[in-house]
Amino acid sequence: MPMPLTKKDNNFSFSPYNIALAIFFIGFLAVFCRVADYPLLVPLLLTFLGIHLFFIGKLTLRLGLSLGFLLTLIVFTAEFISRYTAIPAFYIPVAGISMLTILLFKDIHLMFGMTFASSILATLIVGGNFDMMLTFFIGGLTGAYAVRDARNRGQLFAGGVFVGVIHLVCLLLLQPYISLLISKEFQAYYLYPLAFNGFISAFAVLAVLKIFEYLFGVLTNFSLLELSDFNQPLLKRMVLEAPGTYHHSLVVSNLAEAAADAIGADALLTRVGAYYHDIGKLVNADYFTENQLVGGNKHDEIEPSMSRLVILNHVKEGIELARKHKLNQMIIDFIPQHHGTGLIHFFYQRALEEGAAEGHEVNEGDYRYPGPKPQTRETAITLMADSVEGAVRALDEPNPSSMEETVKKVINNKFIDGQLDECPLTLKEIDKISSTFVRILGAMYHGRVKYPEKKNGTARNGKHRSAPQNGTDSHEHPEENPNQFPSHHSPGADDPAA
Ligand SMILES: [Fe+2]
Ligand SMILES: [Fe+2]
Repeated sequence: MPMPLTKKDNNFSFSPYNIALAIFFIGFLAVFCRVADYPLLVPLLLTFLGIHLFFIGKLTLRLGLSLGFLLTLIVFTAEFISRYTAIPAFYIPVAGISMLTILLFKDIHLMFGMTFASSILATLIVGGNFDMMLTFFIGGLTGAYAVRDARNRGQLFAGGVFVGVIHLVCLLLLQPYISLLISKEFQAYYLYPLAFNGFISAFAVLAVLKIFEYLFGVLTNFSLLELSDFNQPLLKRMVLEAPGTYHHSLVVSNLAEAAADAIGADALLTRVGAYYHDIGKLVNADYFTENQLVGGNKHDEIEPSMSRLVILNHVKEGIELARKHKLNQMIIDFIPQHHGTGLIHFFYQRALEEGAAEGHEVNEGDYRYPGPKPQTRETAITLMADSVEGAVRALDEPNPSSMEETVKKVINNKFIDGQLDECPLTLKEIDKISSTFVRILGAMYHGRVKYPEKKNGTARNGKHRSAPQNGTDSHEHPEENPNQFPSHHSPGADDPAA
């Protein structure tokens, strides 16, 4: 069996190396706090943050370093403001750390822990009280919740405004005295800083987001939207050089995005990952059925073992192309994982037949993709959508019951073959994904009408395959061949190529 082409980040385990590393970090923090005259409770607090990450199964060295870097940033900002400037402490953009955490890691647990830790650290550094810590904490949570699905700068700044408003609400609840509120000193030290803190946080996030994305190797919604632009070189090449694969990728992305949305996975990441999942087919585009509209099947001219190489290679070539174009690892993961360690049935069967005739053995492992199996819900959904799309396309007369049967069969086979063993999908989610596929495919294939042929200017009686159910179906496009592969548009799909 070939080696898997990608490796996932390992979670923390109790190996001597990891334990030594953890002790080193905690010791280093303790020495630093001692030298900088910070409370020695800080290393203990951060140790418990690490323990929390471990218990929720998210503690990796990379994530630990990334979060540590963000916390260091807020500590130095607080230190700089309190020691070297006369700026009031309530200007410290603690909410910016919460917003950055949710935008970069898209994880509510991480965000909550980071908001808690950064509020405490900033308050400790400036010598603030419990009221200050609580105000920072609530403001941070507000900012993160407000921008969790942000896809543009406007939403980011709106989040900043929310933070300012909630800060002021906290201030009013903590100091409900009108006489205080109208005092100039109070306004300068509390009112204005808290009101503008959210805006400053949003601005700081916007300024550093791209840099941190690069440093931490993650993808935010902003970058995903950039990658979904069909002017991106790889997608542009796919449109021109492998139009069948381009169309297949659009259908897979629509199916996968809807399914991801249905189970609360990252729908945008799934859509963009699906756009790029088959870019490796650009290298030998003519050898893939979806691009063989004319000129026959090229595999008829070569041995099954050669066909196997060409098909298997689209994964390897895809990863190479993606790396050459500096795509993020989160997108690259879709390339090997959309096939997992699946079997190339057709050529395996052909090889078995030839092997039986010529008297040589055929190794099943040679006809399997190298893997790894899907490691995330998003890549697992793409694996299912990819197979379902191919199977439904192969149906002669797609109708709701045949499509439902095919979807269930394909997903069941993937499950039995163990392709979903390493992803965190539950059976309930797999069921939801299956019914979403059926619903989207039903919407894609419904209302396909056989148009009567025209003879002497009059239409012959033609039988409708199924009745159109709305006023916007193919009646409006009589030039479309109803037997062609159906349109990829699904209701509500936000398709940039459209
Ligand atoms: Fe593929
Ligand atoms: Fe595919």
